Amino acid sequence: MSTAETVRDGSVRDGSVREGSVHDGSVREGSVHDVSVHGGAVRERTPARRAAAPWHADPYVRALHAGRGPLFLRRADGWMLPLDVERWCADADAADRTVLRRCQGPILDIGCGPGRLVAALTLHGHPCLGIDVSQAAVARTVRAGGPALCRSVFEPLPGEGRWGTALLIDGNIGIGGDPRALLARVAQLTAPDGLLIAEAAAADVDERVRVRVDDGRGDVGTAFPWARVGVRALLHHAQAVGWSPVEQWTARDRGFVSLRRTPPLPRSGTER
Ligand SMILES: C[S@@+](CC[C@H](N)C(=O)[O-])C[C@H]1O[C@@H](n2cnc3c(N)ncnc32)[C@H](O)[C@@H]1O
Repeated sequence: MSTAETVRDGSVRDGSVREGSVHDGSVREGSVHDVSVHGGAVRERTPARRAAAPWHADPYVRALHAGRGPLFLRRADGWMLPLDVERWCADADAADRTVLRRCQGPILDIGCGPGRLVAALTLHGHPCLGIDVSQAAVARTVRAGGPALCRSVFEPLPGEGRWGTALLIDGNIGIGGDPRALLARVAQLTAPDGLLIAEAAAADVDERVRVRVDDGRGDVGTAFPWARVGVRALLHHAQAVGWSPVEQWTARDRGFVSLRRTPPLPRSGTER
């Protein structure tokens, strides 16, 4: 597997992502390495994160390099969920734009993949950062013109508690295989009045599964936990961890919800 990677980082201050402190696209071949952020500067560290392993699997990397599938998430029982690699590698489409125009900056795209959303946001001058555990995805995002960092959403991130919008698009509510844990983590990342925009599965499902990335031709990655939730389950899990629905819409057969943190209940009791 080629592990050429390009990593940039952005620090978030005063509602903007600063690229002055950005590591300017260093490329290294043949090694998996990572970066950490200290006061806006980026330092390297090794080894590669363990959480990334499944998405480093050759079928995903090869599909990103080719810009196309076929590619699937395969469950243990053989059921295959097709992954829309061509759409991910294309420019943002009309459905994506319904998401982008609802964003308030700065925007964190969690599991940005090859980065079409981050690239579109950047093109229109919106401060944003993509994060992804796949170096191949991060490299493509940076090539597409968007700032991106090779990092898991469950690791320390720049701008925690200050992001204006967090995105979980293209099934990324499935990251980690536990939607409530992910939604609770996203609540730590966004500003108190921040927005979360999440895409739901088309079907009315609520499942936690173990899957492998599979190209349908015998190239299969390692197993990892994933989740699929339809709108109903997504709203249920979100409300359980303190998110309130703001809006719900569909575009090109894709379903989205936006949510804000539920304000804490006023403290009861008699004031003296
Ligand atoms: C279903 S794909 C979505 C792709 C993406 N939204 C796009 O536009 O191409 C899931 C993405 O999430 C990334 N991912 C998986 N686990 C992650 C984690 N813990 N933190 C950040 N990204 C993760 C994968 O590497 C993959 O690129």
